[in-house]
Amino acid sequence: MDFDGLRALNDCSFVVEPGEIFAVIGPNGAGKSTLFNVITGLYRPTQGQVYFRGVRVDRMRPNRVGRMGMARSFQNLELFKGLTAAENVLVGGHRHLGYGFFRALWGDPGVRRREARGLDRARDLLGFLGAAEFADVAVDDLPYGVQKKVEVARALATDPVLLLLDEPAAGLNDAETEDLMETVRRIRDERGITVVLVEHNMRFVMGLSDRVCVLNYGSILAQGRPDEVRSNPRVVEAYLGEEPC
Ligand SMILES: Nc1ncnc2c1ncn2[C@@H]1O[C@H](COP(=O)(O)OP(=O)(O)OP(=O)(O)O)[C@@H](O)[C@H]1O
Ligand SMILES: [Mg+2]
Repeated sequence: MDFDGLRALNDCSFVVEPGEIFAVIGPNGAGKSTLFNVITGLYRPTQGQVYFRGVRVDRMRPNRVGRMGMARSFQNLELFKGLTAAENVLVGGHRHLGYGFFRALWGDPGVRRREARGLDRARDLLGFLGAAEFADVAVDDLPYGVQKKVEVARALATDPVLLLLDEPAAGLNDAETEDLMETVRRIRDERGITVVLVEHNMRFVMGLSDRVCVLNYGSILAQGRPDEVRSNPRVVEAYLGEEPC
């Protein structure tokens, strides 16, 4: 993937198996978010291909890739301020309800009943993430850790088979991080959703992932099980002075 002469991803080839929790790590600027943007169709790669469920998706628009069962959260929260937690989750679920979110917000009595069903489902999802009590609170008034859960719930509302999380633990305290690890594990174990995550928190990555891929300057430095990656001399060198794990 090139940006005006800057090669942000180069020869970056890997396969994620169904049911895996797969982590992508690497220093700032390594290309992790760019990789997510390429996988989800937000960026069109200059070269190379992306396959999802056996179908080539790198020429598709993000909403089409989303309809195939891919959902993501963003590194910077992208919630609708002024809406409640449940309403924010409902935005994610709209492809299931069969009408536009804003049509539902401003009128059309015909969709009210379905909207109520959607809100019930949003509440269920927030409950699954341990945030049921915040369903009717405006997201602006929620602690950061809960806002992050709302974003995950919104991604889950599309019923994905693959969930991509960009730095889900950033800004969380230790207890919130621990809680999120358990949540991600349950998303995989109880819902069978494959998870790919980008994260700087090494305890989170090493304690949760089946496999880890290390990006450095847009290329793959190493990939394998957490213990393999942790002891890989090239990884140790790239992280020198940083105390990776
Ligand atoms: N839209 C863009 N236009 C131009 N350059 C970009 C764009 N997006 C990313 N880059 C560049 O590509 C490189 C990789 O950026 P990216 O955001 O993917 O890194 P990252 O690994 O997610 O870093 P971080 O850990 O800080 O989030 C950086 O040099 C960045 O400046
Ligand atoms: Mg990033």
